[in-house]
Amino acid sequence: MDTLADLARRVSACTDCPLHTGRTNAVPGEGPSDAEILFIGEGPGFHEDRQGRPFVGPAGNFLEDLLQSIGMTREQVFIANMVKCRPPENRDPTPAEISACSKYLDRQIELLNPLLIVTLGRFSTAKFVPGQAISRVRGRLHSVGGRRVFPIMHPAAGLRRQEMRAGIEEDFAKIPGLLDVLRIQADPASETVRRVGEPSHPSYETGPPAQTPSLWDIPEPTAENAPVPPESDSVEQPPAPPEPPPGQQRLF
Ligand code: URA
Ligand code: SF4
Repeated sequence: MDTLADLARRVSACTDCPLHTGRTNAVPGEGPSDAEILFIGEGPGFHEDRQGRPFVGPAGNFLEDLLQSIGMTREQVFIANMVKCRPPENRDPTPAEISACSKYLDRQIELLNPLLIVTLGRFSTAKFVPGQAISRVRGRLHSVGGRRVFPIMHPAAGLRRQEMRAGIEEDFAKIPGLLDVLRIQADPASETVRRVGEPSHPSYETGPPAQTPSLWDIPEPTAENAPVPPESDSVEQPPAPPEPPPGQQRLF
């Protein structure tokens, strides 16, 4: 049985796509093997390539601030990318590069089996929710192939544009409530603990309270409403529901 460390070693020696030629270091990803959240970015940038670690440049600083805003640290989460080697000049990864590298991310997901996958930006979002604008699907929980996926704009976009920053912060603030609900779903006995006033995890005390009612805005498709193509883990999502009337806030 391979481990996350074995996988990181394979990534570091990988020559399966042209990106290996330009790298200083591959960036397999990092975090504890029992992390509840897996963040998936796009690919290493300049600083990540130099250090061999994900999200250590300006976008990484913003990600750490966002984590802090919900009472968490990067040491508590797993951080990975769609491609593990830096595309030259930070260009977009090509479909062929993403495809060559996907075996590593897929295995990371299997080994981690995270409670929640947070996709950062359009490339990782498209892995789970293909064919839809990120502006349409972000900030809502998607159920895809048995995994819970929460798309957010890429932190680098938030650094470039103030209005995106606000959207990212707003979406991030939903994570503690989502985790509360997902923990209860994974282990219904934990609800009793929470109800008597103890937080389900001390690190999330600062988050908003769980709000269960509208968690499944986007249900797992069934054979009747959306046939899943064979061999594919990604499914088309139904269109977003209409906006709630003024004054009513949609949480998920
Ligand atoms: N942007 C990404 O998508 N990933 C990183 O690791 C750093 C910046
Ligand atoms: Fe291998 Fe992925 Fe790096 Fe390409 S990007 S060389 S597939 S580790």
